[in-house]
Amino acid sequence: MLKVAVIGLGNIGNTHAPIYMANEKTQLVAVCDIIKERADKAAARYGVKAYYSVADLLQNEELDAVSVTSAGVENGGDHYEPTMQCLEAGLNVLGEKPISNNIENARAMVRKADEKGVYYGINLNHRFVPPAAKAKQWVDDGKLGDLLLINMTMWIGNPNNSSPWFHARALHPHSVDVMRYYCGNVGRVMAFFNKAPGRDCYSNMQVSMEFENGVVGHLTGSYDTNPRHNLERCEVMGTEGRFVLDNCYEELTLYPRRSDELTVVRNSIMGGLSGFNATFTNRINRWIEQVDAGVPRNEIDASGHDGLAVQEVIEAAIRSFETGRAEEVPIA
Ligand SMILES: NC(=O)c1ccc[n+]([C@@H]2O[C@H](COP(=O)([O-])OP(=O)(O)OC[C@H]3O[C@@H](n4cnc5c(N)ncnc54)[C@H](O)[C@@H]3O)[C@@H](O)[C@H]2O)c1
Repeated sequence: MLKVAVIGLGNIGNTHAPIYMANEKTQLVAVCDIIKERADKAAARYGVKAYYSVADLLQNEELDAVSVTSAGVENGGDHYEPTMQCLEAGLNVLGEKPISNNIENARAMVRKADEKGVYYGINLNHRFVPPAAKAKQWVDDGKLGDLLLINMTMWIGNPNNSSPWFHARALHPHSVDVMRYYCGNVGRVMAFFNKAPGRDCYSNMQVSMEFENGVVGHLTGSYDTNPRHNLERCEVMGTEGRFVLDNCYEELTLYPRRSDELTVVRNSIMGGLSGFNATFTNRINRWIEQVDAGVPRNEIDASGHDGLAVQEVIEAAIRSFETGRAEEVPIA
């Protein structure tokens, strides 16, 4: 039984905690928030001990793993401190995305996890759905032939205006992660951004990408749409066909190049995913399964290295917009 704690009890920490409670391989033993009322409320809800500092938590509990679900500037500015404290203490850490809004901090966190030899995962939950696994299987089985193109769209409505790069840094770890899941590492990017009228945040972006394997891709991102119409769409094309995965898990279609017969996988009303929160359940259960099984560190799905890699792509896109040139993406 893995003993776990959740650090940061906002909406998302309170999404992680019940998943640990429900998993038979984990025991939630404590919650921690620097806001006392939040820690106390969560502690009462889950019947566990409340802590108001990570140092105190680490001193008083024998833990195997933690979720770090803090937020901060660009939804990632607060992750560094508690994550480094927990990694330093030798704990396995599942962090929320973005790994950090500060790329130097993100690199340091990944280095620290490597140095300590602990597991480090990031909650890049969008790909933890059965249709994405099916699409990946099609790619691996050669149903698409040699990969050539990928188009990704992720757009929601979010009025957050707290920084110019909030949209790019806070939302697009998800979209770039889905792209990397199918096509691997990104080598170069070229990006354009704009702001909807009255906004300080670059709320729209178009990013062209060249992957290391030669695939060429495109990402459309926006904070100015209604996600009830469409949240995301991923299309991957190869020499023998293409697939389209609509809305993360709602509908997956394979279009073979040399046949008119399509394969359609739908999220069944009977036993399909119950809603977007199921992506958290799937991702965290996979994390628990891998940590409990003691898999080799480089096999952790959506690892710290993956979390860093997507942030490197986003930073390169920002640089590209600023320089007006294609920019190389550093290896994570
Ligand atoms: N994976 C997803 O689909 C998804 C969706 C939404 C949000 N998120 C991410 O989840 C994270 C949390 O989001 P939220 O809306 O719950 O944020 P929030 O601001 O409501 O909650 C964060 C909490 O962390 C606490 N905190 C900060 N630093 C701390 C520290 N050092 N020790 C203890 N507690 C600390 C804060 O006091 C706060 O209560 C963000 O990084 C966000 O980007 C992920």
